[in-house]
Amino acid sequence: NTGAFTYDPGFTSTASCESKITFIDGDQGVLLHRGYPIDQLAEQSNFMEVSYLLLNGELPSKSELEQFSNHITRHTMVHEQLAQFYRGFRRDAHPMAVMCGVVGALSAFYHDSTDISDPHQRLVASHRLIAKIPTIAAMAYKYSVGQPFVYPKNNLSYTGNFLNMTFSVPAEEYEIDPVVEAAMDKIFILHADHEQNASTSTVRLAGSSGANPFACIAAGIACLWGPAHGGANEAALNMLREIGHIDRIPEYIARAKNKDDPFRLMGFGHRVYKNYDPRAKVLGKAATEVLNKLGKQDPILDVARKLEEIALTDPYFIEKKLYPNVDFYSGVILSAIGFPTTMFTVLFALARTVGWVAQWNEMIADPEQKIGRPRQLYTGAAQRDYVPLAQR
Ligand code: SDX
Repeated sequence: NTGAFTYDPGFTSTASCESKITFIDGDQGVLLHRGYPIDQLAEQSNFMEVSYLLLNGELPSKSELEQFSNHITRHTMVHEQLAQFYRGFRRDAHPMAVMCGVVGALSAFYHDSTDISDPHQRLVASHRLIAKIPTIAAMAYKYSVGQPFVYPKNNLSYTGNFLNMTFSVPAEEYEIDPVVEAAMDKIFILHADHEQNASTSTVRLAGSSGANPFACIAAGIACLWGPAHGGANEAALNMLREIGHIDRIPEYIARAKNKDDPFRLMGFGHRVYKNYDPRAKVLGKAATEVLNKLGKQDPILDVARKLEEIALTDPYFIEKKLYPNVDFYSGVILSAIGFPTTMFTVLFALARTVGWVAQWNEMIADPEQKIGRPRQLYTGAAQRDYVPLAQR
């Protein structure tokens, strides 16, 4: 008999969390990072600068940005023993499974930055995670395709370094196309942070217990992998490929509207946006630009455009306020760059690491923060006495 149910949720890791990092207005389709609109950052900034902004709250001066970028660059290598860690996985392991394992193992390698009560260790761990995540992600790809790991190069940009570690092979240097580097950097910016989404809340909740930052980010990666969250970019491109032709779109729209069918349009809908996801707007435009600049045609982009057009005029989607989200167009660009769909969520995790780290630092630095302990509405059996087996 619960009667009127009220409780003080305490640190519920979502509803009651305060933060200065990212603001979303879901009804208006507004996303701000430290007050700056996402479309302005995506079009005018770069991922290192946005990373500095998320971590420090202000855009850096030229010297601040150079110092931050150089510092990150000088931590991109991973412990050589960590490379052995990959060899325990099967080659056909999903790269996200590898990411969960390898990032979680970082706390076994970098003991000198796991004491969260020490601000200096927190800073070292934060920079290590941001610096090493591209190397770890590229190694996950290389391992999955049976190619040798490629070491980072300090003369390359953060994003260029990642592309080189991913696509370069000993027999042939990878030539970094500025169009590809710019598109990749823009995709990283668009995925960097997004308020208290499921994976960020997971990182905050894990961090609230005092767990080390490497373990917390590994927890965030695990949560992001779900198809309802970051796994949707892989699922969205697979869905578009399954549809294959604009003639088959009505069949999938009908399935998405059928309550008895578990199928949902991947890359559509959002827990917060009840308007167009501003990131999807930027990505939708970028998809056409990048494919044109690369001289590539992808019929899947035509399917995506037509699907969006039909869905946005369908009464069901209008009533439910369902719009394309960040995952709807990203896969078209990533595929054109050369990534397999299994790497899409790894790229999301790579970019989101700076957001997770910024949010984790904000929480840990708050002297008022307590361990997260969401409560529940109990709907089970009322108290009753044990019945011995002989009487059952
Ligand atoms: C990300 O939180 C974040 O910020 C996440 C993220 C980030 O940057 O961290 O933005 C990244 O995770 C984006 C979302 C990626 N996921 C997908 O694209 C998967 C497909 N989308 C859905 O599974 C869904 O839209 C969710 C999970 C994203 C939200 O689902 P909800 O909570 O059910 O959304 P809702 O309450 O707004 O749904 C309203 C209605 C529901 O129907 P009714 O119960 O009212 O009858 O719309 C339906 C939903 O069933 N609906 C869909 C749909 N999404 C919602 N119907 C068909 N296709 C869809 N995609």
